[in-house]
Amino acid sequence: MTQDELKAAAVAMLDRAYCPYSHFPVGAALECSDGTVFTGCNIENAAYGATICAERTAIAKAVSEGHRDFVRIVIAGRSRDFCVPCGTCRQVLREFAPGMEVLCLNGAGEELCLTLEDLLPHSFGPEHLQ
Ligand code: THU
Repeated sequence: MTQDELKAAAVAMLDRAYCPYSHFPVGAALECSDGTVFTGCNIENAAYGATICAERTAIAKAVSEGHRDFVRIVIAGRSRDFCVPCGTCRQVLREFAPGMEVLCLNGAGEELCLTLEDLLPHSFGPEHLQ
């Protein structure tokens, strides 16, 4: 999938977001090393703490289908600011792909291209448990 196609897949997920409380839709498209793409949206809950972010929806879909080797993720929002991943999502991405690319989009479709290392330096991971 081209980068533009991956971006379009993340943007398309904005319409699937279930966000009646925040009214802040987020879409994600996660690309694996074999080219498989898993998409996700945020799924809110009346018990706010049970909300699942778009990134973690995509990761749960991927891992539960046997994919763990991620190369990049596009995260789309509709706000003026770039939709950067929350701390929990950074840590969950880091578990599987500490060097992955993270492309954050704003509502104008502009992009901020980062790596997970930029977003979560000196991070804790599986190797620390050895
Ligand atoms: N949200 C995400 O889906 N991903 C993030 O990394 C940031 C926050 C969602 C959670 C909640 O539904 C809404 O955005 C407002 O926080």
